[in-house]
Amino acid sequence: MKAGYHFLTRRSLAFKINTVLFVLILLIVAGQWVVQSTYISRILTRQALAKGSEIAELFAMLSIAPLRRLDYSTLRGNAEGLLKTEDIISVSLLDSSGFDILPFASKPIPDKAVTTILEKEIYDEIGTKLGTLRIKLSLNQVQIGVAQTRSLLQISFAVILTLSWTAITIMLRLMLLIPIKRLAASMDGVAHGRIIDPVEISSRDEIGVLASSFNTMTMKLKQSLDTQLRSEKLAALGGLVAGVAHEINTPLGVAITAITMMAEDVGTLKTSLADNNLSYQQLVDYTDETNKACDIIQKNLMQAAKLVRSFKQVSADQSSEAKRKINVGTYMEEIIASLKPEFKRTNLTIKLNCPERLNVEMAPGTLSQLITILVLNAKVHAFESDQIGQIHISISNDRSNLTITVSDDGRGMDAETQRRVFDPFFTTKRSSGGTGLGLYILHTIINEQLRGQVEVISHPGAGCLFTLSLPFHPDTIHLVD
Ligand SMILES: Nc1ncnc2c1ncn2[C@@H]1O[C@H](COP(=O)(O)OP(=O)(O)O)[C@@H](O)[C@H]1O
Ligand SMILES: [Mg+2]
Repeated sequence: MKAGYHFLTRRSLAFKINTVLFVLILLIVAGQWVVQSTYISRILTRQALAKGSEIAELFAMLSIAPLRRLDYSTLRGNAEGLLKTEDIISVSLLDSSGFDILPFASKPIPDKAVTTILEKEIYDEIGTKLGTLRIKLSLNQVQIGVAQTRSLLQISFAVILTLSWTAITIMLRLMLLIPIKRLAASMDGVAHGRIIDPVEISSRDEIGVLASSFNTMTMKLKQSLDTQLRSEKLAALGGLVAGVAHEINTPLGVAITAITMMAEDVGTLKTSLADNNLSYQQLVDYTDETNKACDIIQKNLMQAAKLVRSFKQVSADQSSEAKRKINVGTYMEEIIASLKPEFKRTNLTIKLNCPERLNVEMAPGTLSQLITILVLNAKVHAFESDQIGQIHISISNDRSNLTITVSDDGRGMDAETQRRVFDPFFTTKRSSGGTGLGLYILHTIINEQLRGQVEVISHPGAGCLFTLSLPFHPDTIHLVD
């Protein structure tokens, strides 16, 4: 019973409905068959018996005169005539003392024949009983008729069964199963983070209402997701701007200090010159100091310029989708440099492992976006604020794929977290500003833009390993010399 229940629960709705319908139609058709064939059998039997009685009546009437005359040869002649009728097997005529006057008026009984006996008492005009007529009737013809009718019924019911079952199955499919399947596929898509086109509404029934509510829901979800995505992008850019501004401030500050000191030295030099007491040693010291200050200013301004350059590169690429040729290793270093401010007050190091001569053509902003999401996630989620740790980025390729792995030796994740990391809005840091959109964006870019795959392997306490598998394709990323 239980096994049967489990068997049924595992089956598709289409299978269950079809089975129930089939059994129902079969029962109805079988019931009809029993009723109709019983009815036909009754009618045919009744007709055969009526015919038999008519014959018996006639024979009885014709027998009155010969019986009275004891004319046995006429009686036998009549009986033989009667026996020519196909359904009559024997004719007995018992006189008033019960003696059979026609002992030989019979023919062989066919095999398995169902027979019945008709009896008719014979009276003369004044009511004296002259004898009893007994006719044995075969119902073989009735049986043949019933069998023929039954097989005709069987054929027509089989046709009805097949046609009605097919028609209902097609209707069910069109009106119920296909719309439900379409809706389920869309829901599944949404559940896996893909917001898809609205479901087509082809009817105004309950399914249509369901589809329309579903469309409203996805539209609202899409709107709120778009808003969130925009704010996440802005927040990421804002964070980057703040970090870079802070970082540039340091070399600029040093350069300003050096220039201020230089200005003071020039002032002193100018006074000595005006007073006419400028010594040779003073001039030597001044040139030495100025030289040093120039060095410091140059170094720091160059550092600031470099920061601006890499920031410009990363942020500009993030918003433009133009493809260009990049050396992956060099570009990765630029990305890591742009992330430096984020890692300034941490004990985390970022290691890069990349083949030197790997050149690709792609929209580089995409790559920096993916790496930034993973590296910042490692910083935020994998380690405590002063924990020592390592983030390892490793890049490899073959003819058809670019593979990027980003791993950390931080706290890792449990199975439940791991199962949900790519879901939109899933975050374990909501209270401290997590949006749960980082890995969702990553997943969307990889799946929809780059037609690749991403997976994560992690265990609590054993860090995380994200593997990005990006297929080469002329429209997305492809190898160049
Ligand atoms: N390197 C990592 N180590 C541990 N947990 C991580 C790591 N990266 C991501 N996670 C988990 O995945 C969740 C989702 O990440 P993400 O989509 O970027 O959202 P958010 O960073 O806003 O929380 C995080 O809240 C965190 O629980
Ligand atoms: Mg994140």
